Amino acid sequence: MKVKSLIIPAALAVLAASCSPKKDIIAENVENAKVQLKSLVEASEAGDTIRIPSTFKNGEIEYVPTDDWVSGFFAGTLWYMYELTGDEYWADHARKHTEILDSIQYLTWHHDVGFMIYDSYGNGLRLKNIDGYKDVCINTAKSLATRFRPNAGILQSWNVDRGWQAERGWKCPVIIDNMMNLELLFKVTEFTGDSTYAKIAISHADKTLENHYRPDYSTYHVVDYDDETGEVRRRCTAQGYSDESAWARGQAWSIYGFTVAYRFTSDKKYLERAEKVAEYLFNSPTMPEDLVPYWDFNAPDIPDACRDASSAAIIASALYELYWYTKNAGYKEKADKMIESLSSPAYRAAPGTNGGFILMHSVGSIPHGSNVDVPLNYADYYFLAALIRKGKIEKGEVPVTK
Ligand code: GLY
Repeated sequence: MKVKSLIIPAALAVLAASCSPKKDIIAENVENAKVQLKSLVEASEAGDTIRIPSTFKNGEIEYVPTDDWVSGFFAGTLWYMYELTGDEYWADHARKHTEILDSIQYLTWHHDVGFMIYDSYGNGLRLKNIDGYKDVCINTAKSLATRFRPNAGILQSWNVDRGWQAERGWKCPVIIDNMMNLELLFKVTEFTGDSTYAKIAISHADKTLENHYRPDYSTYHVVDYDDETGEVRRRCTAQGYSDESAWARGQAWSIYGFTVAYRFTSDKKYLERAEKVAEYLFNSPTMPEDLVPYWDFNAPDIPDACRDASSAAIIASALYELYWYTKNAGYKEKADKMIESLSSPAYRAAPGTNGGFILMHSVGSIPHGSNVDVPLNYADYYFLAALIRKGKIEKGEVPVTK
């Protein structure tokens, strides 16, 4: 009898737990994000001018200038909050943070304008169809197109006449990250009917497919081309552990970029490449159990190496879209697992901490000693994108966030 009386309440507790409604991970993350991002909005709008928060270090929020590659992510994050909540508060602030980037449509000295303008103006256009936003996207595509090098068939990522890039002996470097800028070009062809932009995007994707990958489908970070002959001069890294290592965020840009290229072209070779990258990622012996990658799959100090939450968020977001095209349930399961890990206290900051950023533990660039094991605005951006995509899939909608 005694034993029975102990067992019955325990069994009832298990039964009660299994019958209680499953925690809604999207809703719960949105509630958390409201608190965090409201404080970041207030901090970034507290001075005379609106500032762009990028990270939080040593108790201080760091802000970046408008020409920094991460300048569009905070605006994009606020647009996603509008999408997730329907609350005009987020749209009002998203608009302010978007419009401070106005001059970037004419920036031609680096390739990141796709990130900067499409994540800000592009999301604003999609969600609110604001007058003038389409023109900003079109002008930005024109600026990006000036970086197309026809003999090599690629968009040049970085200039080599200044900064640390000038010291590497490169002629025409292309980084895998550049796949992320193609979405803007494809979209602008849709907006204008001018196929020039999509043709550039396809040429760039084809060259990347051909030249950026190792036999195991991990990607190099940098491929340096001869822009006159089109030949590959060198394959190497800038932000990874070594030239032959697999820098985690590079792998994330790679799976995301080819999934998007498939979205616009229906060309199976892009889908196949995204699937090969997924195979590489999930068969990698150094992919941790919680699926939040180390900053480099070949970091020598694994398992003590830093994790990169930004890579997990980007990969999860890509996997939801990849799932949609392939209906391979494994991709959604992996993405869900990543979201679950990122939503745990190991990666998601407690409300009121982390300077208002949502996620902790991302890595900017270890070789440059920059932003190591900190929150990053793009980790939060892709995390919210992944939540939106997850929600769309679960409602039977196309999980595209732009
Ligand atoms: N696009 C630069 C980076 O991923 O760090």
